[in-house]
Amino acid sequence: MPLRAELVATCRDMAASGLAVATTGNASVRDGDTVLISPTSLPYEEMTEADVVRIGLNGEVLEGERAPSSEWQVHCAIYRARPDAGAIVHGHSPHAVAWSALGEELDTGTEDLEHYCGGPVRTAPFAPTGTAELADAVLAALGDRNAVLMARHGIVALGRDLRGALHVCAVVEQQAHVAWLLRSTKNVQQ
Ligand code: 13P
Repeated sequence: MPLRAELVATCRDMAASGLAVATTGNASVRDGDTVLISPTSLPYEEMTEADVVRIGLNGEVLEGERAPSSEWQVHCAIYRARPDAGAIVHGHSPHAVAWSALGEELDTGTEDLEHYCGGPVRTAPFAPTGTAELADAVLAALGDRNAVLMARHGIVALGRDLRGALHVCAVVEQQAHVAWLLRSTKNVQQ
C-alpha cells in the first residue's frame, strides 16, 4: 500500500480501536529524508491521502495544503535521534493516560512489554502540547525503548513501519490496563 494510504488507514484503525477519540492522536511515517504526517485537528473519518502533509526532519512543510500535526516536534525529534524509527503513532487511550498521570514507569513484568517496547515504559514529565519542551522531555524519557508515556497526555509508540507502531501503541494501552488491575488487586490485599 502506498505510504499516504497506509498513514490514513493507520489513523482510522487507531481511532476504531479506541486508541484515540475525536481528533486526538496523530501518526507519521518516515519517507527517505522526509516525514509524512497526519494533519492537525482533522476528524479521522474525513481524512484522505490529500490531507497528509510532508515535512522535513526539522519540521519545514514540503508538501500539503494543511498544517501538520501540532506534535510535529515530537515526531521529528524522534526520527532525528532514532534511525530505527520508521513510523510513530501517538494515542490518547484511557488506561495509558490515567497511568501517565502517576508519573511512574509502566512495568507489569510481562514479556509483552519486553517484546514490543524493549522493557518498561517511562513517563516523560508534563509539558504543554505542541512545544519543543515536550519533544525534549519525550526524547529523554524514551531512551532506547519503543514507547514512552507523556504525563497527563498519552502514548508515543515507535515501529519499523506504521503497523508495527500501531501494535506497540495498542500493547502499551493493554499493559496500562493490566497495571491498573494489578494495582487494584494490591490495594485489596493491603
Ligand atoms: P493534532 O490534531 O495537532 O495532531 O493534535 C492531536 C494531539 O493529540 C496532540 O497531542
